[in-house]
Amino acid sequence: MTYKDVQSCAAYIKERFDGDIPSIAMVLGSGLNSLADAVKNATVFSFLDLPGFPKPTVEGHAGRMLIGTLEGKPVICMQGRAHAYEGNSPEKLAFSTRVLWALGVEILVLTNAAGSLMKDAGPGSLMAITDHINFSGINPLVGVNDDRFGPRFPDVTNAWDKELTSTFEKCADKLGFPLHKGTYLMAMGPNFETPAEIQAFRVMGANAVGMSTVPECLTARHVGMRVCGVSSITNYAAGMTGDELTHHETMEFGAIAAVNLEKLLRAFVEQIAA
Ligand code: HPA
Repeated sequence: MTYKDVQSCAAYIKERFDGDIPSIAMVLGSGLNSLADAVKNATVFSFLDLPGFPKPTVEGHAGRMLIGTLEGKPVICMQGRAHAYEGNSPEKLAFSTRVLWALGVEILVLTNAAGSLMKDAGPGSLMAITDHINFSGINPLVGVNDDRFGPRFPDVTNAWDKELTSTFEKCADKLGFPLHKGTYLMAMGPNFETPAEIQAFRVMGANAVGMSTVPECLTARHVGMRVCGVSSITNYAAGMTGDELTHHETMEFGAIAAVNLEKLLRAFVEQIAA
């Protein structure tokens, strides 16, 4: 996938969307699909129709781009995403984020389902991502660097935007529910972690663990977009409760966390969007 492929896909979207492209995009993770219904007056693109887009393979990931409004503010909502565990190449993992950039998006809001390593952040709660650990073994920026996207060796000291994260905190305060903060660790998956892995990740400083989000963050920072994100906690990480982990549980508690996450995203967009 080259710079030209990214531009072609962006051109395909622009030709079919009547209006100004929003400057904010949000990516909805597993179990958060219902949030897309909140987007009004949406122009909808199936990922299947977008040239060059990776095709989704997981249940619970519809794979659509919606361009519309939330709280009357223009937003792009990505319902579903490409995962490393689906076997996507680095370029495929970078593609949709690069298309958003080519469309003119400046702020990328990433959401995901994650397991919690924090005893006080149980299933159904939310965590603002303040930093990440890329433990996935993959990186979307691997390969020949195209300087039109960004530099060969991008700095990621401030990958997660402090100002945007503080807006999330203010919004949660106003809405009256707790918003935890912490470091998100990406594992490749597709298996959930072993208890020993979770032990190791705790020592490394992880607060939540999941199988996504880091590729989009790295790709977005490479092209200079601002990034912030929230994990919806669907379970305690492996070994913390004695129970086994299931995708079903992820979806169930994802739906519970989605109630507050929808409120949070609405309030955020209202604050931030032009
Ligand atoms: N581990 C990895 N990914 C996840 C988890 C988890 O515990 N929960 C939801 N996504």
